[in-house]
Amino acid sequence: MTLLGTQDLSADSQGIAKAADLLRQGLLVAFPTETVYGLGGDARNGDAVASIYEAKGRPSFNPLIAHVASTETAKRFVEWTDQAELLAQAFWPGPLTLVLPLRSDHGISSLVTAGLDTLAVRVPAHPTARALLAAFDGPVAAPSANPSGQISPTTAAHVRAGLTGRIAAILDDGPCGVGLESTIVGLTGAPALLRPGGVALEQIEEVMQANLHHHQPGDLLTAPGQLQSHYAPDAPVRLNAESCQGDEVLLGFGTVTCDLNLSESSSLPEAAANLFAALHKLNETSRPIAVSPIPNHGLGAAINDRLRRAAAPRD
Ligand code: TXA
Ligand code: MG
Repeated sequence: MTLLGTQDLSADSQGIAKAADLLRQGLLVAFPTETVYGLGGDARNGDAVASIYEAKGRPSFNPLIAHVASTETAKRFVEWTDQAELLAQAFWPGPLTLVLPLRSDHGISSLVTAGLDTLAVRVPAHPTARALLAAFDGPVAAPSANPSGQISPTTAAHVRAGLTGRIAAILDDGPCGVGLESTIVGLTGAPALLRPGGVALEQIEEVMQANLHHHQPGDLLTAPGQLQSHYAPDAPVRLNAESCQGDEVLLGFGTVTCDLNLSESSSLPEAAANLFAALHKLNETSRPIAVSPIPNHGLGAAINDRLRRAAAPRD
């Protein structure tokens, strides 16, 4: 299908109703969440989900996260567990995704799960995402709204730059507050951290240790994931740089002299919120990017995960 254009919708009741309508028609809408902008399609509609992969230019069918309006809705699609209840009560709505066994009567397109018998579900906290999910009244599959392999979008302008002409509409509600994708916890076996993200591992550990007698510190730590190039600016990225070399621009953290600072006050939440916008901006200079060291605790773990992927050898 050829789209003549991508509509810009404002995040008022009219825009949200229009976005829900487009989703019902099997079309794609980019929408804000507290983490990054998502590229949404009806998770029960195989054609809609296929067009998500097409719009992103995703080479393979990675499984997608189903976004739902409430814990009650999540329970319609996955086998709920005590651990899920604990984490949902602590962190939903919010930047946490849970991977759980699919229910037999789930109705979710197998393109969302990439044929797995598990589903990643999340109840986002962003008021516009919540309003859209309520108006649509169904599960919305949504990867980050960027072309495959590129930097994740934290503003509608980022989405527009990457996906104009490939999707029906963009629901614009300003910059995303968290700025990093959700933390993913697998609950299909022993609880496992599948991706660091917007909820710090320490917070999850705290809740689990306080409530599960057998849970030991460090239980959630899994082997670091494969280091693949992802979130990649066009220029090379060099990490843990104290200063610039050659033609580099420096992305700083804390009290350093640099071209752009993630957080002058060394705040990790502020750095997370600024990370992708900063990479987008420095990418426009077409110069190599050096990045200051970032502490690895709290949200720093997720920031460093994204930076390592941005710096990984390109394939
Ligand atoms: O914050 C976020 O999570 C954003 C916003 C839009 O919600 N979404 C996002 O989606 O980051 P995406 O597609 O870029 O990343 C989804 C991740 C992938 O790494 C995928 O492998 C994993 O979730 N995933 C999805 N379903 C899974 C499953 N059944 N088992 C294990 N991992 C799964
Ligand atoms: Mg992504």
